[in-house]
Amino acid sequence: MKRLTNKHIVLGVTGSIAAYKSADLVRKLVAAGAEVRVIMTPSATEFITPLTMQAVSGNPVHQALLDEEAEAGMGHIQLARWADLVLIAPASADSLSRLVHGRGDTLLGAVCLAASSPLAVAPAMNQAMWKDPATQENVATLKERGLHVLGPAEGEQACGDTGPGRMLEPDDLAREVETLFDTGTLAGVKVMVTAGPTQEAIDPVRFISNRSSGKMGYALAEAAAEAGAEVLLISGPTSLQTPDRVQRVDVRSAEQMYDAVHSDVEGYNIFIGAAAVADYRPIEAKASKIKKDSDTMSLEMGKTEDILASVSALKHRPYMVGFAAETDELEANARKKLEAKRLDIVAANQVGEDAEGKPLGFESDENTLTVFWQGGSEAFPYMSKSQLARALIELIASRYRNEHNIIRPESFG
Ligand code: CTP
Repeated sequence: MKRLTNKHIVLGVTGSIAAYKSADLVRKLVAAGAEVRVIMTPSATEFITPLTMQAVSGNPVHQALLDEEAEAGMGHIQLARWADLVLIAPASADSLSRLVHGRGDTLLGAVCLAASSPLAVAPAMNQAMWKDPATQENVATLKERGLHVLGPAEGEQACGDTGPGRMLEPDDLAREVETLFDTGTLAGVKVMVTAGPTQEAIDPVRFISNRSSGKMGYALAEAAAEAGAEVLLISGPTSLQTPDRVQRVDVRSAEQMYDAVHSDVEGYNIFIGAAAVADYRPIEAKASKIKKDSDTMSLEMGKTEDILASVSALKHRPYMVGFAAETDELEANARKKLEAKRLDIVAANQVGEDAEGKPLGFESDENTLTVFWQGGSEAFPYMSKSQLARALIELIASRYRNEHNIIRPESFG
């Protein structure tokens, strides 16, 4: 799978001659799997047309902050929430100064203020403007705030000067963007994730299953790999692609999932049970297709083995993370699971609809989660499953390190 699959990138294009390279940059990001939405400042449109950026990104270009029609579609707050990364490329000297001052009077400025995702800039300007103490101070301030500064490169400039200030080439920028998602917080850690539904056979053509799409488990496997973990994904039947750098074992039934987990789990540091494992299965799967001879039929069902609880009961058990999908009494039921299955963390989600009628849980691309552990909890707001997965993996990584007294290396800032 491509390195930027499922990543939402808001690309801000500001007024610089390097804006002509932004179209190529969009193509490179899209080729790496990202979905890109472009914001252009008024001066950027002097260098490259919105039509070009719309054509390469496949999405309408966002321009004005106070545009009723655009705000009714995807307004600045939604754009900020949608973003996994806000990248300004090219970033002019003026745009850097605006960022430092937190100006919210343009669409790009407002999105930068509202976004909780990482921010990156690829400066592009004349070498004297780059070297000016004001710009240097601005860059230093932005770096201090945790903003990523990509480049600039040195070389011949459009104005005839030679020196630092050229925007990095689109290929190099796309590669830098890929590495921004690699946090390294789980470097050297082995993580096993179960995902998807299970299918319990009734006869050779029929089975009992559930509505799990597997999206949350796959997103967790992906986020764990991006955090540097060695990841084994044990998956029930889904239509999803295996994330980059993740090893996958396919199973159908709860019993097969149990066997696959236990044949490999030794040596794993973290176990995340995100699969919607069937709690019951037909005691006997018929060898031939059941005919509709009678008006009623009944199936005798037996309990499946609880995979999560069984891993938790191992002598050298990994750090245990389970899920709880609840319709009522979220906290009480989640905490019961935490105790009963001896989990370190339980991530609970409300299934059904939220107060505003948004679908929650199984089949949707978005969700909310509340995470509980002994003596604490953290609530994650409504966001995409891949954003949620990254937030959850960061929480798991920090609690895991805490418990194992692992100091986070400085370089992982
Ligand atoms: N789980 C598992 N093996 C099972 C059943 C569940 O590993 N046979 C794991 C799931 O992956 C998830 C958690 O256990 O992490 C869910 O707990 P579970 O008790 O199945 O939740 P519910 O089905 O909602 O149970 P209950 O009806 O008791 O609330």
